[in-house]
Amino acid sequence: MSDWDSKTQLEIAHQDGEAAKVHRISRTPEHILEKYRRCKHWWAFPKELMFKSLGNLAQKEILDFGCGTGEISNELALLGAHVTGIDISPEMIELARRRVAINGVQDRTRFIAGDVTKTPFPENKFDSIVCFAVLHHVDLHTVMPLLVASLKPGGKMVMVEPIAFSPALQRLKDKIPIGKSHSPVDRQLNMDDCRFISGCLENIQVRYYDLFSRLSPVFRWKAAYLFFGAIDAALIAVFPFLKKFYGEIVIVGDKPSTP
Ligand SMILES: C[S@@+](CC[C@H](N)C(=O)[O-])C[C@H]1O[C@@H](n2cnc3c(N)ncnc32)[C@H](O)[C@@H]1O
Repeated sequence: MSDWDSKTQLEIAHQDGEAAKVHRISRTPEHILEKYRRCKHWWAFPKELMFKSLGNLAQKEILDFGCGTGEISNELALLGAHVTGIDISPEMIELARRRVAINGVQDRTRFIAGDVTKTPFPENKFDSIVCFAVLHHVDLHTVMPLLVASLKPGGKMVMVEPIAFSPALQRLKDKIPIGKSHSPVDRQLNMDDCRFISGCLENIQVRYYDLFSRLSPVFRWKAAYLFFGAIDAALIAVFPFLKKFYGEIVIVGDKPSTP
């Protein structure tokens, strides 16, 4: 067994264990859907920017790569899309299936338990692909070309990933156990990783999140998220070099018109 294959086995065991900690799956409330329909605070919340970037979802074919418990797949389907969710963890996929059943959108969703590198999708299949906190678990050089090939011409990819562009920050994050998933394969993406991702696509748009917003969970109120989000958005607009210290990136890009 190759080193990567044995890591993959560890990742499956880890993610199955994470799934076992989820005890309740509930119906998605209307106010959550309304939030992703309007995306009013996209500058403070990366997930709102993701939904905003996808545009009108009605009848769109979307791949949710690394769908986990199916939260995003379910929201996309409730907003009118046809969704394929894939995850390497069979237990995560079980939860995703339960979630869409509870929400009554089984007919607009399909879930696959498998490694994306071993489950090739047909070329030119999807209008859009979303990757929410998953590319930092995989070998980008293997996975990105597969994902891009499965997009229809002009199709869009939206990625939300943790980053650490400064090696000092990377080392600090490695030392502090807070918020770590302990996945055997994950890491924070560095600048080269993000350049590679952007190089696979065209019409790239990039936005950075999570400098002072790291403090928002301490206060819990939505106002704190908006306040720190506004500071983070303003700071990077004036001082782009500060991206070294931000913790999250959203990359949006289209399938290149020439391969
Ligand atoms: C941090 S979780 C994010 C889950 C989901 N996108 C969300 O936001 O809730 C990363 C997910 O990627 C999945 N994953 C990791 N490597 C994978 C691979 N090679 N193929 C498919 N899924 C993978 C993991 O099982 C895990 O559920």
